[in-house]
Amino acid sequence: MIQVKSAEEISRMMKAGEIAAQALSHAGRSIRPGMSTWELDKIIHDFIVSKGARPSSLGYCGFTGSACISINEELIHGIPSKKKIIKEGDIVSVDLTVEYDGWNGDNARTFAVGEVSDEAKRLMKITEEALYEGIKMAVAGNRIGDISNAVQTYCEKNGYFVVRKYIGHGIGKDMHEDPEVPNYGKPGRGPRLVPGMTICIEPMINSSTADVKVLPDKWTVVEANGNLSAHFEHTICITNGEPIIMTLEKH
Ligand code: MF3
Ligand code: CO
Ligand code: CO
Repeated sequence: MIQVKSAEEISRMMKAGEIAAQALSHAGRSIRPGMSTWELDKIIHDFIVSKGARPSSLGYCGFTGSACISINEELIHGIPSKKKIIKEGDIVSVDLTVEYDGWNGDNARTFAVGEVSDEAKRLMKITEEALYEGIKMAVAGNRIGDISNAVQTYCEKNGYFVVRKYIGHGIGKDMHEDPEVPNYGKPGRGPRLVPGMTICIEPMINSSTADVKVLPDKWTVVEANGNLSAHFEHTICITNGEPIIMTLEKH
C-alpha cells in the first residue's frame, strides 16, 4: 500500500533527506586513490552518526556496510571491504540511506576518481540527466510509468542499457515502500501520483547490456559483460507543482 505523507511528516522527512545528501557529498569529497572501500564506508558511517542519524543499510538483510560502494562494472550493492582499493581513473558509485527521527532519505551518485575516460564521463552524465528526466515527470496526476518511460527513453536514445532487475521504490518510515519505480515502462501506466507521495528514482544504467550478475559475495551486482555502469538516485516528494528533491544539501 502506498503511504501518502502529511505535511508534517514531509517536513520531518526533509531533514533525513538533507543529512543523506550531506553524507553523500562528504563521501565524494573524501574519496582518494589508494583508499579501501571499507575506509570510505567508515567515513560515511561516522558522518551520519555525527548528525544524530543512523545508516539504514547497516544490518539490512545482513548488509555489513553503512553505504553500498561499487566500482566500475559494479553497479550496486558493493560491500565495503578492506581488500577493495579505489584507484585513479575509477568510477565509484556510492548509495546511502539515512534514518533520522524515524524517517528515511536515500540517494546515490557515481563519482569520478581523478581523471576518468571520456566513456566513463559520458555514462555518468547521461545517467544523471536520466534521473532529472524522471524527476521532471514526477508531478501529481502523472503515473509511475511516465517517470519510468522518461528515464528509459533518455538512456536508450543515448545508446545505453536500462537494468530491469533492480528498480526504484517508495520510501518513508521504511527504506523500501510501495510503489515500485522501474526505470523502464510505458507512459500512462502504473499508480497515479498524488501530493505527499515520496519515491526514490534511481536509474541504474549499463554501457553494453541490460543484464547483470550477482557476485559470489551474494550482494555485489555487476554489468554482465564487465563494462562500466552508473547509478544516480534522489528521494522525491510529489506535489501539485514542481517535485521537491528531498535529498539536497540545503533547502
Ligand atoms: N539504498 C539502496 C536503495 O536505493 C538500498 C540499500 S541495500 C542495502 O534502495 F542492503 F545496502 F541496504
Ligand atoms: Co539508495
Ligand atoms: Co533507493
